[in-house]
Amino acid sequence: MSDKLFIFDTTLRDGEQVPGCQLNTVEKIEVARALEDLGVDVIEAGFPVSSPGDFNSVVEISKAVTWPTICALTRAVENDIRVAADALQYAKHKRIHTGIGTSDYHIRYKFNSNREEILERAVACVSYAKRFVEDVQFYAEDAGRTDNEYLARVIEAVIKAGATVVNIPDTTGYCLPGEFGAKIKYLMEHVDGIHKATIATHCHNDLGMATANTMAGIINGARQAEVTINGIGERAGNTSLEEIVMICRCHHELGIDTNINTTKINAASRMVSSLMNMPVQANKAIVGRNAFAHSSGIHQDGVLKNRESYEIIDPKDVGIDENSIVLTARSGRAALKHRLHILGVDLDKDALDKAYEAFLRLADKKKEINDDDVLMLAGQHHRAN
Ligand code: KIV
Ligand code: ZN
Repeated sequence: MSDKLFIFDTTLRDGEQVPGCQLNTVEKIEVARALEDLGVDVIEAGFPVSSPGDFNSVVEISKAVTWPTICALTRAVENDIRVAADALQYAKHKRIHTGIGTSDYHIRYKFNSNREEILERAVACVSYAKRFVEDVQFYAEDAGRTDNEYLARVIEAVIKAGATVVNIPDTTGYCLPGEFGAKIKYLMEHVDGIHKATIATHCHNDLGMATANTMAGIINGARQAEVTINGIGERAGNTSLEEIVMICRCHHELGIDTNINTTKINAASRMVSSLMNMPVQANKAIVGRNAFAHSSGIHQDGVLKNRESYEIIDPKDVGIDENSIVLTARSGRAALKHRLHILGVDLDKDALDKAYEAFLRLADKKKEINDDDVLMLAGQHHRAN
């Protein structure tokens, strides 16, 4: 039996606040339905007080979606919380996500305050949100740079006030994986009542460590991962959903799994990329164009003999029809023979050798050889025989 990792998707909140990624309500509903189909547990649908459009989107997503919990973000401000509760009125399962910055940077410079006052405000916002909904998630913004002892006091107090989930964001993407994992471990060991709440990770990718940090958090006891499709999000982005889900799927020894139907990952990735006008980098793990493309002759030969020699994931498991053997000047005879076979052409050894020589000459001139090129080469050597 695996432990369940709850997937909290914030594509429509942290992802959507990226310049150029804004969606209208109809598009947001389309994404929310895809997330429901994918099997995410929680959809963070927006920050209702931020604009009438965001408010309306949370209302409409709440009506359109059945199974996932719909979550709305607020600051530790009573009016934000009232507006969020109002926006969530049609949600079948609802959660308010409220919180405040807890690092000394936030306490001094953002709030011009002190630790004790911030602790009081943290408790007050959770208690206030509890008047409207049962499920209240607290975030300690910039927890990554917050002193662990103080963070533990804040978390203990908000759990006493009724927080069902506590979110430990590495807001600035600063932590090292060992450091972030140790922070979660510290909280698990030092906060009284920690088991009454679910611990969540929310990591940013400023130093390219969002996925590693999230995994370190999970290994040390976090059971909710906050993620976005394709890792979109503020600055360098958030932890990507597809990476966390597939790491848990590949590493059975962790004993952790999610509710995600992985065969829908590729379609969801394309939908978000096209609606948000955010191309996915070709070498992006899991969903990049080249994630399952083999181009060197040695790898192609290995994969054709047994795909597990160079693939740790069956592309079909993430909704991609098959691995692609890309024909370039680095490809070997085996790859050319395989592509010809798929195209319905089987050459004898001599004809294949000649076609392969011609293929290498052409491949030195072109970046990639397409099916028309391959058929043309095969035709010449069929005829020559
Ligand atoms: O990065 C962050 O700290 C956030 C919080 C609002 C959860 O997005
Ligand atoms: Zn964030």
